[in-house]
Amino acid sequence: MYRLVFSQVLRRFDAEAVHRLTVSALALLARLPLLKRLLHRAFAPHDPALRVSAFGVHFPGPLGLAAGFDKDAACAEGIAALGFGHVEVGTITAHGQPGNPRPRLFRLVRERAVINRMGFNNDGAHAAARRLRRPRGIPVVIGVNIGKTKVVPESEATADYVASARKLAPLADYLVVNVSSPNTPGLRNLQAVSLLRPLLTAVKQVADATPRRTPLLVKIAPDLADEDVDAVAELALELGLDGIIATNTTIRHGGETGGLSGRPLKERSLEVLRRLRAKVGDRLTLVSAGGVEDVDDVWERILAGATLVQGYTGWIYGGPLWAARIHRQLLRRVHRHGLKSVTEAVGRTA
Ligand SMILES: Cc1cc2nc3c(=O)[nH]c(=O)nc-3n(C[C@H](O)[C@H](O)[C@H](O)COP(=O)(O)O)c2cc1C
Repeated sequence: MYRLVFSQVLRRFDAEAVHRLTVSALALLARLPLLKRLLHRAFAPHDPALRVSAFGVHFPGPLGLAAGFDKDAACAEGIAALGFGHVEVGTITAHGQPGNPRPRLFRLVRERAVINRMGFNNDGAHAAARRLRRPRGIPVVIGVNIGKTKVVPESEATADYVASARKLAPLADYLVVNVSSPNTPGLRNLQAVSLLRPLLTAVKQVADATPRRTPLLVKIAPDLADEDVDAVAELALELGLDGIIATNTTIRHGGETGGLSGRPLKERSLEVLRRLRAKVGDRLTLVSAGGVEDVDDVWERILAGATLVQGYTGWIYGGPLWAARIHRQLLRRVHRHGLKSVTEAVGRTA
């Protein structure tokens, strides 16, 4: 049904217009308590066998929505009601900014991929904090992904991230330092250990100082050389980070300027996950994103060492109930393998 709606209707409209409409619809849903609760009861993962604990946070299921959809923390409850086990909001910057000129979001339907060069369009940390403070009607795990404000020079990046962290860490179930988006000039340079160490050290001080100690993760690009993946992993261990999210979008493609997500990213994303698992074992929580399309992909990532899995492009092509469907199929898979819980599968083939 969704395939028909997508091929006949949605794909004829500008991708960003459809995105905005979807965010508005989900924000509206978040304001309708009864419907929200009904949908949550019907579609959210509830079986104990799907529950996952990571860095002291309890997730109802391992599959969450990757950053970039709910950039302003406007509709996380609506997303959770459709079956996602967590929602990573952002990327949020200290100061609000408009992002790059449009068009900046492109579907590659045949490749089951998307190219975006949004450039962290968002209302800024203050506005996001106000939204995150609203009381919630259904349980939802919210990760907050922060990035650098475009006009802030690289030399002042740490202070900019720290300003966001101060406002948002107390309101987040976990915090992510994003140094891997390709659409803010110079951002990915911050992945170099010499720049990343002071940045993560400063943000960690803020995250550690919140009343519940907010878990801190770093999100990396698939385009890092293998040795650089290892170097970030070693740094994360050294600094006592809680986990790594791998990966962001890739700039290794021949299309429009921007980051490529979806099916073409699958292989490299899995490769980076395997490398990280070989390096850190279970000392860090690994969150795998990139090209996840179905239950087989989710299962493969879990077996390879991911405690949590994220998707975004797969949802665009898979339809609104994509995550609910995958969680249902995942539960069957867990039982079929004679396991009591999905967590028993983490890292089995690593
Ligand atoms: C339109 C779009 C916007 C995105 N914006 C962000 C962002 O603001 N911050 C971020 O860390 N990742 C962002 N991402 C990357 C995703 O979070 C994810 O890492 C990547 O798309 C790979 O997953 P996928 O193949 O399931 O889409 C964005 C992705 C897309 C498609």
